[in-house]
Amino acid sequence: MKESKLFSGQRIPLEMHKPKIVQKLSLVPTERRLQAIKEAGFNTFLLKNGDVFLDMLTDSGVNAMSDRQQAAMMVADDSYAGSRTFTRLERTCQDLFGMQHFLPAHQGRACENILSQVLVHPGSVVVTNYHFTTTKAHVVLNGGTVEELPIAEALQTTSDHPFKGNMDLGRLKAFIGEHGSEKIAFVRMEAGTNLIGGQPFSLGNLAGVRDICDAYGVLLVLDASLLADNLYFIKRREVKCQGLSIREITRRICDLVDVLYFSGRKLGCARGGGLCTNRDDLFVSLRELIPLYEGFLTYGGMSVREMEAMAVGLEETMDEDMINQAPEFIDYMVNELEKLGIPVVTPPGGLGCHINAKEFVDHIPQSQYPACALAAALYIVSGVRGMERGTLSEGRDEEGNESLADLELVRLALPRRVYTLSHVKYTIDRITWLYEHRQMIGGLTFVDEPKTLRFFLGRLDALSDWPERLGKKFESDLGRI
Ligand SMILES: Cc1ncc(COP(=O)(O)O)c(C=O)c1O
Repeated sequence: MKESKLFSGQRIPLEMHKPKIVQKLSLVPTERRLQAIKEAGFNTFLLKNGDVFLDMLTDSGVNAMSDRQQAAMMVADDSYAGSRTFTRLERTCQDLFGMQHFLPAHQGRACENILSQVLVHPGSVVVTNYHFTTTKAHVVLNGGTVEELPIAEALQTTSDHPFKGNMDLGRLKAFIGEHGSEKIAFVRMEAGTNLIGGQPFSLGNLAGVRDICDAYGVLLVLDASLLADNLYFIKRREVKCQGLSIREITRRICDLVDVLYFSGRKLGCARGGGLCTNRDDLFVSLRELIPLYEGFLTYGGMSVREMEAMAVGLEETMDEDMINQAPEFIDYMVNELEKLGIPVVTPPGGLGCHINAKEFVDHIPQSQYPACALAAALYIVSGVRGMERGTLSEGRDEEGNESLADLELVRLALPRRVYTLSHVKYTIDRITWLYEHRQMIGGLTFVDEPKTLRFFLGRLDALSDWPERLGKKFESDLGRI
């Protein structure tokens, strides 16, 4: 995004790319949307894409690829073993992250499975700036628990703290001191902290975490899935880093950690994942599991075409004009909604615009999944598919009790280089209408609740006829579309 001033004085995000391949969209009428959300059990994950107008569910695997990525896919070497494609991707990781060892895996959670199997044991603890759903599931599956020690601002939905993804260093030190370093499987820092609104950590904070890990002899692992956004925010918001290039910031981050893993569906705009380390001992134990779960060491469950695209995509992540597109669009969306008095997470983070459902629908108790209800309501009145990030995503505790989430958010993801400003304006308009009519939105209850990661496949029903009434009111105000 270039800082180009408009004659009108208005500030808009300006794209430094143009679409060369496009996909046709359709906007089905309200009555079909109402039917579709019922068929999907009020879970936006279960909507069929033909019924969706703007898919803001996630950025995962749906970022736009560049022409250079597409071109690279044509020269992939699909040998089972020793593929030249692997060598190219390995070299890119070595060059960008400064880590000698690269292990391929089919996506981010596959890396989490391997890391957890090797490092997490019954009774051990993973300490993190904030958990992610699949990370926690793998830690728990291996008998461990997750301890979150973010700074207090992390859970304040509105704040002007530039780095709400920071770890609370005082609490981290006290926790390790109290429990003993033998109990800590690893400290995990998540870049662009997903579940609290795509909030970054600062380089200074990561260095502080490293010092504590060194003092206690504890491993430091980086979840770099949302690193692109975090890099942008460090460059923009961390005074000491403003003279550094994105490439230099990347290296400084990587030099502080023992292991880095990523979802290539997010970082690198392709589909896959990988683990990187300089530690020979760790490399050897992690490597053991790759052929077992992922595939041979030179593809790890990925298509070689995606690996070629990933190598180019990772390299393109070093271009500030590329990585600033999504955060700048998100910034625009959050600021416009805030001006209209609509509760959103601030400061604007990466990944998407996050609506604070606890305030938006403050009449719906957390036990009736307010964020899920709000995501369903938004779909009914707009065809926009967002994602619940609240109690439904949290799941139940060991005794089967509901664990109420710290935050109830509806995430409207803005995959990189995909949506236009008019798409964003349309979404803002429909959210505004919904906010005016928010009292019409009601709660939900489970009709089919999976035991693990229930947000993916769970089915719910409305606790009254609120969806029909909402749909009718929308039609009478704004028509069938
Ligand atoms: C921070 C973070 N870690 C891990 C993952 C898991 O990655 P994947 O979806 O590729 O399995 C995600 C996916 O959204 C993520 O956001």
